[in-house]
Amino acid sequence: MKKVIINGTIVTASDTYKADVCIENGVITQIGTSLSTEGAEVIDAKGNYLFPGAIDPHTHLDMPFGGTVTKDDYETGTIAAAFGGTTTIIDFCLTSKGKPLQSSIDTWHAKSKDKAVIDYGFHLQIVEGSDEVLSELPKVVENEGITSFKVFMAYKNVFQADDETLFKTLLAGKELGALVMVHAENGDVIDYLVKKALAEGNTEPIYHALTRPPEAEGEATGRAATLTALAESQLYVVHVSCAEAARKIAEARSNGVDIWGETCPQYLVLDQTYLEKPDFEGAKYVWSPPLREKWNQEVLWNALKSGTLQTIGSDQCSFDFDGQKTLGKDDFSAIPNGGPIIEDRVSILFSEGVKKGRISLNQFVDLTSTRAAKLFGLYPKKGTIAVGADADIVIFDPNVERVISAETHHMAVDYNAFEGIQVIGEPVSVLSRGEFVILDKQFVGKAGAGQYLKRGKYGEEIVLEEVSSVVS
Ligand code: URP
Ligand code: ZN
Ligand code: ZN
Repeated sequence: MKKVIINGTIVTASDTYKADVCIENGVITQIGTSLSTEGAEVIDAKGNYLFPGAIDPHTHLDMPFGGTVTKDDYETGTIAAAFGGTTTIIDFCLTSKGKPLQSSIDTWHAKSKDKAVIDYGFHLQIVEGSDEVLSELPKVVENEGITSFKVFMAYKNVFQADDETLFKTLLAGKELGALVMVHAENGDVIDYLVKKALAEGNTEPIYHALTRPPEAEGEATGRAATLTALAESQLYVVHVSCAEAARKIAEARSNGVDIWGETCPQYLVLDQTYLEKPDFEGAKYVWSPPLREKWNQEVLWNALKSGTLQTIGSDQCSFDFDGQKTLGKDDFSAIPNGGPIIEDRVSILFSEGVKKGRISLNQFVDLTSTRAAKLFGLYPKKGTIAVGADADIVIFDPNVERVISAETHHMAVDYNAFEGIQVIGEPVSVLSRGEFVILDKQFVGKAGAGQYLKRGKYGEEIVLEEVSSVVS
């Protein structure tokens, strides 16, 4: 059925204006004033913004890690994402040495199909640069529409790949039109520091941060940037947490390297002191890279404002405190790394960023949606409000106040990393391809309604189908 959203203020990465939006067959067919509402369901968005559905370029749902499996799967994770205004996620498909890539991709399709309530795509992990793996990549791009490859430079003996693998992946990315992503920390140095700390009897959560110093992140970021320049390829650095890494990205960008950077809400509002919370509570705040000294937050905000960093990912990787984080009760290196962020990513950025004057409203849209769509082959089908685009729209109340809490969140975990933080602004209703997933703050979507997205190549825009013209 046709829908017309009236009285809202449309915000894109470039413009803010009042207009009605007409939706038919899942796409936006008209944008204008006083659009005909005949035969349409009319949605009054008075006093609210209309944002393009947010895109989370960094999630780990139903992922085995740290001796356990993330608590949120494709159903609970995407429901929580939708409550937070996210209508597309790109999740990391893990692979294993010696196993065909396609079998890992099939595993990820099985995890997501019939469960996702919003649209989703996959990034593909590259653990080894063997001939078998490299020869499979063209098919991965062409058949699966997976146009981003992920290399971990840390997690020794688990996910970590060597520099040869990273370099070969960069060369393949250039040839195939795929964006290479890195978790940039020096895994070898960290492994040494972790063993040393444990041998000295230092087992508490704070040692997670103390054994992963910012220099290890800065060094790996700089190394990855140098290899990208050498390969004349393109690179996206995930979860940038500190000044050292942001500086390396700024330096490489100023030298013309095609490098992009993402940070996450946790690095913008939480800091290293959280790992010192008593009664093992610090384990709730164990991420890699770790939370940093507070002064880094201003550096990250400035990097977002100035364009050194361009996206915000959640790095959703949730574990219960009780029973999962507690696996590391006597050994910080056994605490599963990661946290529940998917639901609050957009709210935190709006409240702490826009409301506090750190970024503009249009920058907020770019950071949470548009830029990710452009980098990951989804634009302009996703990432903007325009005629012909998918009707992924967030009706957002910019004035409502709420306190974030595990008592009210929709993620499957038993704590919220932002517990007690007051935010201004919240999605009221969320549409995915023209259908409500969230309506007046209630979930009305359906497991399995989310579609798998075959994405375009790096640097290419999707050509939209022709629809009826703009009426003004
Ligand atoms: O601690 C984190 N970031 N967990 C998720 C896995 C990763 O490194 O992105
Ligand atoms: Zn990572
Ligand atoms: Zn991650």
